[in-house]
Amino acid sequence: MTPGVQRFWTGRAGRQPPAIERASGLHIWDRDGKRYIDVTSGPIAVNIGHGNERVLAAMREQSERYCFAYPSNFESERSTELSQRLAGLAGPGLDCAFYVSSGSEAVEKCLQFVRRVAMARGENARYKIISRDPSYHGSTRATMALSADPGYAPYLTDYPAALHVPAPSSYRPPAGVAASVYAMQCAEALRARIIETGPETVLAFIMEPVMGFCGGADSAPPEYYRRIREICDEFGVLLIYDEIVSGAGRTGTFLASGRWPTARPDLVILAKGLGGGYAPLAAFLAPARLVDAVAGAGGFHVGHTHKAHPLACAVGLAVLEVTIGDRLIEKAAQSGEYLRAKLRRLQGDSPIIGDVRGLGMLNAVEIVADRDSKRMLPRELDVIGRVQALAREQGLLIYGRRTHAGRFGDWIMVAPPLIATHADVDEIVDGLGRCLGRFQQEIAAAA
Ligand SMILES: Cc1ncc(COP(=O)(O)O)c(C=O)c1O
Repeated sequence: MTPGVQRFWTGRAGRQPPAIERASGLHIWDRDGKRYIDVTSGPIAVNIGHGNERVLAAMREQSERYCFAYPSNFESERSTELSQRLAGLAGPGLDCAFYVSSGSEAVEKCLQFVRRVAMARGENARYKIISRDPSYHGSTRATMALSADPGYAPYLTDYPAALHVPAPSSYRPPAGVAASVYAMQCAEALRARIIETGPETVLAFIMEPVMGFCGGADSAPPEYYRRIREICDEFGVLLIYDEIVSGAGRTGTFLASGRWPTARPDLVILAKGLGGGYAPLAAFLAPARLVDAVAGAGGFHVGHTHKAHPLACAVGLAVLEVTIGDRLIEKAAQSGEYLRAKLRRLQGDSPIIGDVRGLGMLNAVEIVADRDSKRMLPRELDVIGRVQALAREQGLLIYGRRTHAGRFGDWIMVAPPLIATHADVDEIVDGLGRCLGRFQQEIAAAA
């Protein structure tokens, strides 16, 4: 950085990204006029695409009336309308919404809320939260501890309330174990962990029903979800689904958990697609029975200056109206099928594509050295960084991940806005094919 020149730092160690000029639909232009396709909707946030006129109009209308009202002084009708709309879409038992500004905060608030539930019920000994490994629940200290990321090892041991159990893997179950069998072993590991640590101390189990960045769009067989629900019920443990990535229509149902009706969660957390990238907005949804219990025991008075921010809620409502009105959830289901079919065809020509998986418009391509052994490419090749750079040259903005120091694989997420047409999908997959072809040449040259 030039001495004396102050500038915004993204946190990146390498080159700064180019300056953005404008964005519309699936596309973003930089200051040099180069056009990019937003293949991962930012970090899977821009579900309805950029620059939607109806959302911009709602922002203007709301901001001309008022931008801010602190919830303890005023109720804002937009927050109320949004809650009603969300409750209708989320289905029975997810009646109330508590709004904050980011996914990490929403997870933290949800954990604080369930602790209040335990206290309201006289179950003061319950405080432990079990999460999965791998998982990602945010970047605050408590959410990092839940996320079991070895990059933050001290916080894992420093936060004794967070315990971990393995997450199922459809692509990398242990050697000699079928993925479906492994999924059930993972469910039983939850039961064993609860018993081992003392069921009366366990408050909640949190998981992503369809994994985002930590597991590359992986999900488990239906029996896993059913069994998890049974185990939570057996021990009075609350089941929380982190749908920050998978919710708001991304996977072809409003909540991904809508696919497993016998395994409904007690609480759900939403962010990202909820505000669609137009405003920082996140929420946890809770059943009225829990909210009433907490309200009856003195309430849940946690301060956040921007909680239930009226402008953000107006945006959330407009994003939801676009999502439903333009039938984007149904489109996500259909375009997702088409996208995966195209990616699987690409896999046929590309030996470094180990796996293609996903639901709706939440998809991942796992990159390997060798498809038969599923061996990962060496760390020095910086697979994700290099593929992202090559994709950028092709005008594709792609987010990828080598999770938890490479214990679980390398993948890139293919999760464009839900408005993507078949022609957009063709353009994305063609560009990806060129980029992976070049990467393969580079690997061959380096060998
Ligand atoms: C599953 C999941 N939970 C929580 C978070 C944290 O959300 P935020 O980045 O808005 O704090 C993320 C962010 O990527 C996520 O993917």
